[in-house]
Amino acid sequence: MSTAPTTPIDAMHFRRTLGQYPTGVVVITAVGADGEVVGMTVGSFASVSLDPPLVAFFATSTSGSWGALRATGSQFCVNVLTADQEAVCRQIAARKTDKFEGVPLRFTDRGSAVLEGALAYIECDTEAVYPGGDHDIVVGRVAELDVQEATTPLLFFRGGYGAFVPLSLATADASLASQMRYVDLARGPMERLAADLDTEVSALCAAGSDLVIAASAGQVVRPEMITRVGQRWPYAAPTGALFAANRDEAERRRWLATASDAFGYEAAVALLERVEADGVAYAVGPAAEAHLFETTAMDIPVHLVQSSAAEYNVPLTEMSEPVELRFASVPIFVDGEMVFELGVWGRLEPISAAQARAIIDRVRSCADEVVALIPGAGVERVPTA
Ligand SMILES: Cc1cc2nc3c(=O)[nH]c(=O)nc-3n(C[C@H](O)[C@H](O)[C@H](O)COP(=O)(O)O)c2cc1C
Repeated sequence: MSTAPTTPIDAMHFRRTLGQYPTGVVVITAVGADGEVVGMTVGSFASVSLDPPLVAFFATSTSGSWGALRATGSQFCVNVLTADQEAVCRQIAARKTDKFEGVPLRFTDRGSAVLEGALAYIECDTEAVYPGGDHDIVVGRVAELDVQEATTPLLFFRGGYGAFVPLSLATADASLASQMRYVDLARGPMERLAADLDTEVSALCAAGSDLVIAASAGQVVRPEMITRVGQRWPYAAPTGALFAANRDEAERRRWLATASDAFGYEAAVALLERVEADGVAYAVGPAAEAHLFETTAMDIPVHLVQSSAAEYNVPLTEMSEPVELRFASVPIFVDGEMVFELGVWGRLEPISAAQARAIIDRVRSCADEVVALIPGAGVERVPTA
């Protein structure tokens, strides 16, 4: 190690420059012999090695919280915070003793304290603690780990908190920014619906010639996908019928013009009429078609949508055979304009038509809960005079 005098670097300059590098945020927890949970908020967490499985974080050597963590023994647990856990992050970063007051925790078989609602947790045995200037480099050997919530992480950048927005969203039509404000207010009801139905719930916004999944709650059908947020669907028949049916005449014509030979213009007109009458868009379809709704592609190609063999808005009352519900979405209006669609993704197993109708009704009541939270919102279009 070099002992040569270091060039003095201004502390502010150091912090400001290093603050250009964003980090995620984790809470490190440990449980003392008396059962007391101690912990600290950490941004310097990183994955180190797969074989053996190692992770690390850097703790201020003089930190009281790190001292308390260290004193508990040789285990700790890393809790990756979600974008909506900023309050937990701040509470646990505070210099106080009862840091976990009101923070829901559960205890694993190994005795680790896991934060309810954390994105993921990683249980570790302390492998080594190395000196690193005014910090300690704490290396943990991973014993257990899992993803808990299929959502997005809390980010820390230039001293402020934020959430991850995929470039596919960030580069979309600027109008998405205003739609996103409303979508954000829908999160609570979306989470509850996803938990009730044990499926995934998404909010889709129209952005230029695409539909973009702006928010998602619940487990994705394909675990390797992690989240659907940012997935883009082409605004082409039969996709986007809900927007076409609930916006103006020009929008309707624009959408109808996207009908391909495979889907058909007449079929698109008939679909618009059914969607308008039903106030909901849904599809049922054979297992062979499930790939369209389960694809992990972030940009869904238009030909895949147009060649879909799913049946859209077929009258469920006439169905006696079990169906596989692919999705069901309802529109959310603000000041009379449709701003996003709120939908559930189906489960793969066949269900009765009555069960499918019950799911659709549940989506409708979720929409009622959502509009109650957004000033000026409604579940029906207010025609302009
Ligand atoms: C977003 C964020 C990231 C942080 N990252 C670290 C870190 O990587 N290492 C560290 O020692 N402290 C970090 N802290 C500070 C500690 O969480 C905590 O505020 C500090 O340890 C409190 O002082 P005490 O430990 O002496 O009570 C971070 C705080 C925040 C809010």
